[in-house]
Amino acid sequence: MGSKYWFDRAKQVIPGGVNSPVRAFNAVGGTPVYFKSGKGAKVQTEDGTELIDFCGSWGPLILGHARDEVVEAVSEAAANGLSFGANTAKEAEFAELICGCVPSIDMVRLVSSGTEAVMTAVRLARGFTGRQKIIKFNGCYHGHTDYMLVASGSGLLTGGISSSAGVSPSAAAEVFVAPYNDLNAVQEILRANGDETAAVIVEPIAGNMGLVEPAEGFLEGLRAATAECGALLIFDEVITGFRLGPTTFSTLCGITPDITTLGKIIGGGMPIGAIGGRREVMEKLAPLGPVYQAGTLSGNPVAVSAGMKTLQLLRDENPYPCMAELGKRLANGVDRVAAEKELALHCAQTGGLFTPFFRKEPVCNLDDSKACDAEAHARFFHHMLDHGIYTAPSSFEVSFISAAHTEADIDEYIQALETL
Ligand SMILES: Cc1ncc(COP(=O)(O)O)c(C=O)c1O
Repeated sequence: MGSKYWFDRAKQVIPGGVNSPVRAFNAVGGTPVYFKSGKGAKVQTEDGTELIDFCGSWGPLILGHARDEVVEAVSEAAANGLSFGANTAKEAEFAELICGCVPSIDMVRLVSSGTEAVMTAVRLARGFTGRQKIIKFNGCYHGHTDYMLVASGSGLLTGGISSSAGVSPSAAAEVFVAPYNDLNAVQEILRANGDETAAVIVEPIAGNMGLVEPAEGFLEGLRAATAECGALLIFDEVITGFRLGPTTFSTLCGITPDITTLGKIIGGGMPIGAIGGRREVMEKLAPLGPVYQAGTLSGNPVAVSAGMKTLQLLRDENPYPCMAELGKRLANGVDRVAAEKELALHCAQTGGLFTPFFRKEPVCNLDDSKACDAEAHARFFHHMLDHGIYTAPSSFEVSFISAAHTEADIDEYIQALETL
């Protein structure tokens, strides 16, 4: 019974057959792959095939699938109780670990997803500043809360419009949407709305329009502009947190946000999210302050155990230089093949994050990413899949190299690309 069988069956009882839209393969066509098991860098499918996985559950699996120590930590925690809805020593230790790894985080609150983390971060920024307006960037994804599903309105200085049915226009209107890497646009919005703006939220390296790095001075400019008008700066590090070093990207680039959101890696594959920041801001959260936030499964002991073991292994083993080397090897290989075969293709890469963009010119924002050849990406995706390589089934995503990948895995990727 293969993927097609399960997809047909799932479609009868799950909208679109999937529990998250990108899994439906709408961007690349064909039948979504059903995964059966994973170990290290490899997954087994319901079709009886083995794939090298460059998606890694969209980021959490930085140590690869089912790393023994993480599975042991999860099993041990589960055997001791799946959930208490009460405090555990482990969550205090985990919070200490995160605070110890990230200098800009004095205190941290655990939740169950990245979406929830962003929802709380935005509410906290509004509660702290007493202001309502938010600035976000086109192409940055911050989860699926109403006011983050917003696209640019008719102009820079008009509020956004909802990008999903069911989002109230009034929620969208409080959010301004600027092009990524466009500091002037942010300054213009702030000149007109600075004293009403609660926060600017940004992926400090964007991962949801493909991999787009911040232009020189962009993040520094956001820091200065927000500080000047009394708005908070939120770094959404759900992808970048603990991805490029055993800390956040903000620590690595030396820019201090007021609030950081985390998810993915800090749960080691279990559902988790976190909001962290400086004490003065974090103390506005209930029960200390007036900003309400709660969760039945927040700080869940099984998720915390998976996250704690993952962060400890990352700190102790420091696989980051190795992942960056593999990333470079892959990007160089893609660029070489693109040149040899005269393909309109280049590879953006930083550390173990990469995106093959199907155009020659660099990609600096969403418009650039949209200008890539989506059909060429879809052909590439299925070609790679047919050759045993699983990558993100959408051109607006990053792919991930884990500590479990080897040079041989990277070389297989390049060899597959050579026959495109
Ligand atoms: C930068 C960023 N923020 C927030 C989210 C939402 O996280 P979750 O899917 O855990 O709700 C994502 C998800 O991919 C993300 O990439």
